[in-house]
Amino acid sequence: MCLKKIILAGLCVVNVALAQTKLYTEQYRPQFHFTPAVNWCNDPNGLVYNNGTYHLFYQHNPFGNVWGHMTWGHATSTDLLHWKHLPIAIPEEKDTMIFSGTCVVDKNNTSGFGKGGKIPMVAVYTAHIENVNQSQHIAYSLDDGVTWTKYNSNPVLDLHKKDFRDPKIFWHEGKKYWIMALMLPVEHFVQFYSSPNLKEWKHLSNFGPVGDTSGVWECPDLTQVPVEGMPGKKKWLLQMSQNASMQYFVGEFDGVQFKNENTTNEIMRPDYGPDYYAAIAYNQLPAAHLPTAIGWINNWYYANDIPTTPWKSAMSLPRTLSVKKQNGQWLLIQQPVKKMQQLRNKPAVISKTVVTGEKILQVKSTQFEMAVTLSPAAGTTTCGVKIAAGNNQYFEIGYDAAKQVVYTDRSNTGLTGFNVNYKKMSRYETKAVLKNGVITLHIFLDNSIAEIFVNNGEAVLTSQFYSNRENNGITLFSNGATTFSNIIFWTLKSIWKQ
Ligand code: FRU
Repeated sequence: MCLKKIILAGLCVVNVALAQTKLYTEQYRPQFHFTPAVNWCNDPNGLVYNNGTYHLFYQHNPFGNVWGHMTWGHATSTDLLHWKHLPIAIPEEKDTMIFSGTCVVDKNNTSGFGKGGKIPMVAVYTAHIENVNQSQHIAYSLDDGVTWTKYNSNPVLDLHKKDFRDPKIFWHEGKKYWIMALMLPVEHFVQFYSSPNLKEWKHLSNFGPVGDTSGVWECPDLTQVPVEGMPGKKKWLLQMSQNASMQYFVGEFDGVQFKNENTTNEIMRPDYGPDYYAAIAYNQLPAAHLPTAIGWINNWYYANDIPTTPWKSAMSLPRTLSVKKQNGQWLLIQQPVKKMQQLRNKPAVISKTVVTGEKILQVKSTQFEMAVTLSPAAGTTTCGVKIAAGNNQYFEIGYDAAKQVVYTDRSNTGLTGFNVNYKKMSRYETKAVLKNGVITLHIFLDNSIAEIFVNNGEAVLTSQFYSNRENNGITLFSNGATTFSNIIFWTLKSIWKQ
């Protein structure tokens, strides 16, 4: 090797080492949300639990920090908090990208992929050939998801369509067969199929078009969830993504057909903020574990342009799922998984306070969790909490009494001009009626991500924004008199530094 090459090679090693030590300390890097170490990610894929390990596969571009070369990335966790990066699971192949899908542990070896007593993990994903075809393929792993072999008789389902994607598979105990839910995106249909062996699929039924059909439908997720306050009772939750937001339906699934029990004049969303998409629930969790979903924190209207490097996009906090009946509708209740509490540092309990105007709290951070109850007196039209406050900037979480909505607004935060859509999409709201005169907010701020759970998980708003970390203040505000009570604040530990 010539001297020049030796020096260059040396410099590269130093650069890589430097880059690695700095990873996860970058300005906008979330500290308790999953992000890939480098490069782009979108939808969570193949969420499955096996032998004490939670798998998170995800749409990933191993070659760059924008969408492309779609491949399944892979990470695992034993607590849903701390993640270990694993090598790429299923790479793109020539002109075929590996689009979204799911995974199961085929305990009874129905697929026949198991060998020598090894239980196969089977992934089903959409093989995407740009502008030509989307069909469903399977692959299996005999080493707990680390290496994958593509089935040699793929595709297992092909309608010869350009848009036909995002299979969600799970075992239906009653019918003793596998179910696959997948999308006809343009027609706005969720299709259901069944299979005894994950290889041959029979069409069962369609659901749709209904609710929000303003964009193509993607990423269906059907999962059974408990009914709050009725031990043993369960309903089926159908979540899906469209036009950069999500919607859900709740009802019954008899192993053949999904019947929605909610009225459809009101669109019900798992998240009312701008940045929650393609969420799916874990497969094969232990019976005592609440159903748990993870979504992608980003928005197709500006996803490629967000100002983060060397990675782009994060996964939401894992959220537990249940439903309850409210005003004749099944309402989805989501809570951050309980284990999140392990990341808490010592709590700061802040005394009850009545605010007219603004009150700056003593606590400061851009990496925290905070609970607060708001009780606006008659005549108050807006009240709430400004976070990431400083240098005349802030992210606003508020209650608008006239409209009876909770809103988030990022128009007054740091960088906003990197994409015209982002700049326009700043304020988001959802209906939130005072209960016994109060609204509760459960706020998570993770540098560039705010995930807000309203009224004990009855609504969630997730939003990215890009402020300088020096803007770490918290201000209570109210234009009338509002009582802020039950205020508890915790800074949270990073999941990346152990
Ligand atoms: C949803 C989606 C899916 C597709 C994947 C491609 O965000 O568009 O429909 O499988 O992303 O990366």
